[in-house]
Amino acid sequence: MKSIQAQAGFFKRSAMSLRAALSAMYMLGLIIVAPHLDAAEPAAKPQVFGGKTYEWGKLLPEQIEVCKLTGNIENGKEAFRGCRGCHKADAAGLLDGTYPRLTGQHASVVIKQVTEVRAGIRVNPKMEPFSNDHAVTPQEIADIAVYVESLQTTRENGKGSGQALARGKALYDGGNCASCHGQFGEGKASMAYPVIAAQHYGYLVREMEYIQKGIRGNSHPKMVKAIEKYTREDIEAVSDYISRMPDYRLAAQTKK
Ligand code: HEC
Ligand code: HEC
Repeated sequence: MKSIQAQAGFFKRSAMSLRAALSAMYMLGLIIVAPHLDAAEPAAKPQVFGGKTYEWGKLLPEQIEVCKLTGNIENGKEAFRGCRGCHKADAAGLLDGTYPRLTGQHASVVIKQVTEVRAGIRVNPKMEPFSNDHAVTPQEIADIAVYVESLQTTRENGKGSGQALARGKALYDGGNCASCHGQFGEGKASMAYPVIAAQHYGYLVREMEYIQKGIRGNSHPKMVKAIEKYTREDIEAVSDYISRMPDYRLAAQTKK
């Protein structure tokens, strides 16, 4: 199998950011399960989706396993076949937000989300049969993660009505969202904070509601706190604002 490491700078970078994610979590004392790894203890499968048992940053054994692997973009393209039915061949999802766009998402985020769906922490019954351990191996998750991260977005994304953008901006800036998701909605690979810029509006609204109500299962507690008092109008306004942020890679280029 041909390694594309030499050809693709971002590939190296993403492998590094996974390592950085792990070391950052170690430094912050967030890795609590790791010492049990040697004892080969199986991951506890929570019966409820996340909920009160979810501790952000407590890595699952499978997350540590996948983070240690080196992803291969070419193999990831092949492994992504099983994901195309919903996320589409270009990985840009559906305009109405039924399926999120994955293009340009940090590999660390893709790994975190897929493994947490596999562990039953993040609710996603539609996707589960296609992403469980019968469908994809840990190596394929690593491959898919670097593949989708490398993709540029070519299609329009779904946006809101455009009528409450000032309110959306005020909520984003005032809610400290940028401390994790960045000024351009670019997220932070080393901490597995997702890219949210140019995501489909419908998906953003749904996730914010899931996060607020605890349905999603895996959400940073600081974020839950930041949005707990949001009304439906607030969620729509901030989602509309985020959906109109350009692809973060373009934003960083033009504003540098
Ligand atoms: C049957 C449809 C379906 C298939 C097939 C599918 N997904 Fe998904 N996926 C979804 C849905 C629906 C969501 C959003 C769930 C929600 O609303 O919270 C999602 C969400 C995700 C997310 C989270 C995105 C984010 O921003 O947090 C990732 C990552 C992902 N899918 C990866 C994959 C991969 C990798 C595959 C193939 C192995 C795959 N999906 C196959 C339906 C699917
Ligand atoms: C402390 C860091 C942090 C802060 C502050 C934060 N978030 Fe998040 N956000 C996250 C993480 C981490 C996730 C992914 C959930 C997970 O894996 O636990 C996420 C997920 C999301 C998602 C879903 C993205 C996806 O791809 O599924 C949206 C939308 C979102 N955040 C919006 C916001 C908004 C709006 C604010 C400000 C009010 C905010 N966040 C503040 C860390 C943060």
